[in-house]
Amino acid sequence: MTHAVALPRHGLFEAWREAARRAIGHRIPPEEIDWTGGEGLFAADPLPDSPGPHRAHVPAAFLQLARSVIWHSAPERTALLYRALWRIDRQEGDPLSQADPLGRRLNLMARAVGRDIHKMHAFVRFRELPGAGRRRFAAWFEPEHDTLEPGSRFFARRFADMDWTIATPRLTARFQDGRLSFHPGGPRPDLPEDASETLWATYFANIFNPGRIKLEAMRAEMPKKYWKNLPETRLIPDMLKDAEARVERMRQAAATPPRPGAAAVSTRYRAAMPQAADLPQTLAEARQAALLCRRCALCEAATQTVWGEGAPEAGLMIVGEQPGDREDLEGRPFVGPAGQLLRGAMAEAGVDPARVWLTNAVKHFKFVPRGKRRLHQTPGREEIQHCRWWLGLELAFVRPRMVLALGASAAFALTGNAAPLAPRRGGMETGLHGGPVLLSWHPAHVLRLTDPAARQAVLRELTADLARARQAAES
Ligand code: URA
Repeated sequence: MTHAVALPRHGLFEAWREAARRAIGHRIPPEEIDWTGGEGLFAADPLPDSPGPHRAHVPAAFLQLARSVIWHSAPERTALLYRALWRIDRQEGDPLSQADPLGRRLNLMARAVGRDIHKMHAFVRFRELPGAGRRRFAAWFEPEHDTLEPGSRFFARRFADMDWTIATPRLTARFQDGRLSFHPGGPRPDLPEDASETLWATYFANIFNPGRIKLEAMRAEMPKKYWKNLPETRLIPDMLKDAEARVERMRQAAATPPRPGAAAVSTRYRAAMPQAADLPQTLAEARQAALLCRRCALCEAATQTVWGEGAPEAGLMIVGEQPGDREDLEGRPFVGPAGQLLRGAMAEAGVDPARVWLTNAVKHFKFVPRGKRRLHQTPGREEIQHCRWWLGLELAFVRPRMVLALGASAAFALTGNAAPLAPRRGGMETGLHGGPVLLSWHPAHVLRLTDPAARQAVLRELTADLARARQAAES
């Protein structure tokens, strides 16, 4: 090895690029360059100053990859990049491709850097520094790679109107009067606790839902090493200790049926009350109110209210039972496996999802936790009755000409009749809202059938009911 290159900690990419350009210009092979600065070498020369006679063609894809890999913490990153550049120049294979061992390694490194930057953006927490004048903030962060330089541009855009510092063990970024500068890193500074910390912690403790803890997913998304620096996650170990007991309390907090005679009392009470000022006046207002629903205990464990979607003045409303696991996470009805089946049958029946109102009888996911899974549970009558308030508002604002009830829960919600579905399926009944309701199978019922012939037959019936409901809504 005859040449040593010392690269700065900040401005690394430009410095490496400049050195690599000179090295390739002189056709200096990778094994003759020590990119660590020649520490410990007896006789290492710097690279020549001149650009050299050879002009390499550097593809944009390589530069893009290099711009990420360069921030990886592996000391060999600069040497690997130069080796790739050398091979590109000499047309030795394709060192950018995943099929090439070097290409694969570089791509993995780039991905790790991307993840690290993403984590920095998500987990840096600023605390306000005391003092008069312009507000100043500081944060401590321990990235896995040297990502402060590429990662801090995001903060400069986002917090352009304040002064801030992000300190890491290797580098410190300072943003002052609109200018970003970098300085050596150091040990963790003593930062003040501030009010927003308490706010974060309180907020997190409140939204923390023990029924939904997925520790593996949490660790993958927010590695444990970051927990101690985040006000909200410092609480996790304590909250986990209490998790099982809280899940049990939630389970026991199932909706209680009204006492006999309660309906009469509440009817009189409501009649005497002035019109509630917050009665939703539009479908959008109803949705807003439903998002905060606490009418029954299902809201305790579910992630969110899953409101209906589609055309607000649809002629046809399709009502399912309740959101499933996927719907609960995404906040949209019928996006999981049963939803896929339903949407396929709708396409077959000529029902355009954008022209119907697709919703559920119950707006929160009811489940029991089993290990890492959340198992669907059929909603009880009380829960359906509590949620009828919202279904009633959807019916009142959408005013569909035809309603299709999928499954027994929807049939009960819409008609008030809890008789078994099988003999009623395909029949038209009058809903509690006064309009026609066609009863059909729930798509999850189709999915549960293991016999292919039975499954086909039931799917055909569901498709036929969808087509009939569409025609009725159009006529
Ligand atoms: N099953 C339903 O009834 N509704 C959904 O939104 C998803 C599955």
